[in-house]
Amino acid sequence: MELPFAESFRIKMVEPLHRSTRDKREQWIKDAHYNLFNLRSEQVFIDLLTDSGTGAMSNRQWAAMMMGDESYAGASSYYNLKAIIKLILGFDYFLPTHQGRAAENVLFSVLIKEGDIIPGNSHFDTTKGHIEFRKAIAVDCTIDEAADTQKELPFKGNMCLNKLGKTLAEHHKKIPFVLVTLTNNTAGGQPVSLECIRGIRALADEYKKPVIFDSARFAENAYFIKIREHGYQHKTIKEIVKEMFSYADGMTMSSKKDAIVNIGGFIAMRHKDWFDRASVFNILFEGFVTYGGMSGRDMNALAVGLDEGTEFDYLETRIKQVAYLGEQLDKYGVPYQRPAGGHAIFVDAKKILSKVPREEFLAQTLGIELYLEAGIRGVEVGAILADRNPVTQENRYPELEFLRLAIPRRSYTNNHIDVVAAALKNVYDRRNSITNGYKIVKEAPIMRHFTVELAPASG
Ligand code: F0G
Repeated sequence: MELPFAESFRIKMVEPLHRSTRDKREQWIKDAHYNLFNLRSEQVFIDLLTDSGTGAMSNRQWAAMMMGDESYAGASSYYNLKAIIKLILGFDYFLPTHQGRAAENVLFSVLIKEGDIIPGNSHFDTTKGHIEFRKAIAVDCTIDEAADTQKELPFKGNMCLNKLGKTLAEHHKKIPFVLVTLTNNTAGGQPVSLECIRGIRALADEYKKPVIFDSARFAENAYFIKIREHGYQHKTIKEIVKEMFSYADGMTMSSKKDAIVNIGGFIAMRHKDWFDRASVFNILFEGFVTYGGMSGRDMNALAVGLDEGTEFDYLETRIKQVAYLGEQLDKYGVPYQRPAGGHAIFVDAKKILSKVPREEFLAQTLGIELYLEAGIRGVEVGAILADRNPVTQENRYPELEFLRLAIPRRSYTNNHIDVVAAALKNVYDRRNSITNGYKIVKEAPIMRHFTVELAPASG
């Protein structure tokens, strides 16, 4: 008999979870103004809000933390991390930052000015925030097929080279760089192929534009290349990663994802003049160039995480768990962005809560229903996240409304996944009785989803 698949780790330290009653959850979500970010973690049973900084570190990472060098300047932890970045990603220059958006803040301070245009594949919300904050424009060149949640494509995170080519032809004078997000988070944790990356590089070269990778989930992207792209089956993840980054001039990294640490980020680049200019902003915003917002121990854990995170066995366990959630939902007929992504399942809220008007935030409504059902916390990737148009102040209604269920790395077992799938099935079965959504009563001018306050739309 063929042996079933099993995780590539065993568990040495555990943390209790908290169950609750529906009555309690009704009170808690009301007190949280129907914003899942406002819940206390003890009010959540299974927390799929994000895979960012929520993973479990390994014994090797914890051991490395004990060796952290906390010197203000010139710490060995910095040089250790610099060497690993050179080895795995191939960049000569790097600056640590406290997380991914800080890396964006520092690098974009060097590269973006008012009126600029930055083409990319579904810029992440903080990335877009840092672009729009500088009065520049993010142009989304993701392939159209990504908007059809039921269409199975191996590389649904790809950029459309036609769209990119047109944007470059029309606006090249205003374009400081092309941004590639690996994996494409907003389109469903979907990967970008190496063929597409090469095409982007060639187009950028025509116009002499640099290419930057938003690399939060670069290793998951490399796993999909190995599994799905012709010619890469026999390459190691580390070989694929090296090739991917060989097409980039620089990268921003949220280490809280594929480097499996609880906090941290960095910028890496090929160009000395970028490094020199970014160093000034790094010192201003983050800290001296050899720590930039990170402690020595955290840089050590990150260095080990980069190594472990680019190993096939780890990635296989990780991505098969996300796929497992997809398989359970298939049994119940719950629609989601197909195929399953690298870090999350993106449930197609529009297809489920078709009776809730989009003005009443249907993906958020689904998120609240799932929380009430079983204390499971996902996150809305829909109209609330899309913010208002900075010019017209109108609400932006994206084509897709998702409830994202992001799976933390090495944290939950497939029993938890079974509970998530069953809870979602229960909500799905009563979908036609859910007709009312929510209205906004208070919101911030930018990135409102974190702090927005809502109330039931009727009443
Ligand atoms: N880029 C991508 C693609 C991301 O997914 C994130 C964060 C960032 C940049 C910013 O990094 O959080 O370290 O400042 N994504 C998290 C998420 C928050 O839940 O998807 P950060």
